[in-house]
Amino acid sequence: MEFGGFGSIIAAFLAALFVNVVIFTVWKGYKERKEQEKRKKWWKENVIYHIYPRSFQDSSGDGNGDLRGIVNRLDYFEFLGIKILYLSPIFTSPMVDNGYDVSDFKDIDPLFGNMNDFDELLKETHARGMKLMLDFVPNHTSDQHPWFLESRSSRHSPKRDWYVWLNPAAGGGPPNNWVSVFGGSAWSYDAKTGQYYLHQFCAEQPDLNLRNIEVRQALNEVLMFWLDRGVDGFRVDAVPHLVEDSKFRDEPTKSEYDPSRPQHDHLEHIFTKNLDYNHKIVQEWRALLDKYKDSYRILIGEIMADLPDVIRYYGGRNNEFDFPFNFGLLGLDDTKTAEDVYQVISEYLAALPRGKWPNWVLGNHDVPRIGSKVGPEYCRALNVLLLTLPGTAITYYGEEIGMTDAKVPLKSQKDFRDPQRSPMQWCSERHAGFSSGTKLWLPVAKNFKTVNAEAQKLDPTSMLHLYRELVRLRSAYKCFKGLGFKVVYVDTSILAYTRSEGHCKFLIVINFGHESWTGALNGISGSGIVEIDSEMKMKGTSIQFDKIALHKAQALVIQMTEKNELMKIVLN
Ligand code: GLC
Repeated sequence: MEFGGFGSIIAAFLAALFVNVVIFTVWKGYKERKEQEKRKKWWKENVIYHIYPRSFQDSSGDGNGDLRGIVNRLDYFEFLGIKILYLSPIFTSPMVDNGYDVSDFKDIDPLFGNMNDFDELLKETHARGMKLMLDFVPNHTSDQHPWFLESRSSRHSPKRDWYVWLNPAAGGGPPNNWVSVFGGSAWSYDAKTGQYYLHQFCAEQPDLNLRNIEVRQALNEVLMFWLDRGVDGFRVDAVPHLVEDSKFRDEPTKSEYDPSRPQHDHLEHIFTKNLDYNHKIVQEWRALLDKYKDSYRILIGEIMADLPDVIRYYGGRNNEFDFPFNFGLLGLDDTKTAEDVYQVISEYLAALPRGKWPNWVLGNHDVPRIGSKVGPEYCRALNVLLLTLPGTAITYYGEEIGMTDAKVPLKSQKDFRDPQRSPMQWCSERHAGFSSGTKLWLPVAKNFKTVNAEAQKLDPTSMLHLYRELVRLRSAYKCFKGLGFKVVYVDTSILAYTRSEGHCKFLIVINFGHESWTGALNGISGSGIVEIDSEMKMKGTSIQFDKIALHKAQALVIQMTEKNELMKIVLN
């Protein structure tokens, strides 16, 4: 009996201990998650500014942008309130694909400067409380990379398996029907060793074999090299292509395809894109970045694919990319209506599972500029859209001043994407202030006399000031930091939505139409005060939601008063 009493004391003690351990573990997990969320804030709340380094600012006078040029322009970002810079590749490269053909992942191409310049850029950005992200190009190297030179030197090279080599097909010719993204067979023949190597882009960009553990280790060392230097994260290039079918099966032709589209679009890429193995690799990278506890390092994926394939790259347990780029808005052009914009936004948000962080992109170095596709007069409205949608906004350099594609004569084009990579338009002087050199690597767009940062800085009603106001809005009001978002009205011209959190409530109304518009937003009642007008004229004006008037391409960001109520949510 006594023993039984003692036993139950022990049992009670053990039970209490167990409960405490459970509570402690849950509490610790909760604290860690909270801590992690706090560390992630920097890229959730700030805008990411995408710099194409060769075109941003030349400091040496050789007609190419460089790292010192970026250092010299850091004040610009302070003026705008931009806190995160992402640079397209700056590594040693023969520049066949403008730096996406890397021949040394751990050095700076002389075109951009040297490692001292890089360290200074990193130090200066950090000193200003900013973050710096780089491009990571793991799918392929340059054919001049020592790894590939070694690999192609002999079938018995210790690095032969670092790339994807195959014998010719039985009757001769490439091993299978795979096609490069840039057109033509994805295989090139190496006469010396009598085999074909795989390249999903140019022939000068042989694909690494990421199934090989030594290759993955070497790539991890590349990541660590930059992370140890203090880099804040990476945009990962060409993610869908990381690994291919290990049986190298032919890809089927699509049941329907447009013969005028590039050859790559004719095939169903079931053996070369988005294989499950890719996710395992991305998880390894995420885990590697998570080892850096001093500050959160971000990983963003470039995935050109259908939405479900893109979304998978968040990872089931948020263990892959912090976000894969959302390229939905890249499809906008002058045929699109407000309803089409709504469609893109709602499809994306509907596909996004709970707990995943959204993001928005209007342009990048691979596609024509948004101002050229949609028309320059809509650039202000599009910046309002970009910076008021829920999630991280990414701006391609020059979008903040409404840059459009440069005209590059076909015969002098080095790449079909040259027009959207033209030099940043800083001022109305020679070469738009981009370079003091005589010959630029690409011409400046003709409109630089009026479309430039300096002129717009002097004009308080300019797009640059609008952009700056939008960045300020995002940091001043908590409803732009969270994800509260509801569409309250849409027709062919008008898109209206609210952003809200607690008492913080804003209504955004955008006219994507070709004419002025006056009407009632039947999803919402009451009134508010204009906080931002895309035309930079109506700030402080009181607006009744049953009678809103907007010029063509005008957008208003209206702070809702306490009395406003969403009458009914028309959409969502
Ligand atoms: C990515 C880059 C593009 C490059 C390709 C091959 O899509 O954005 O510029 O040509 O990868 O590296």
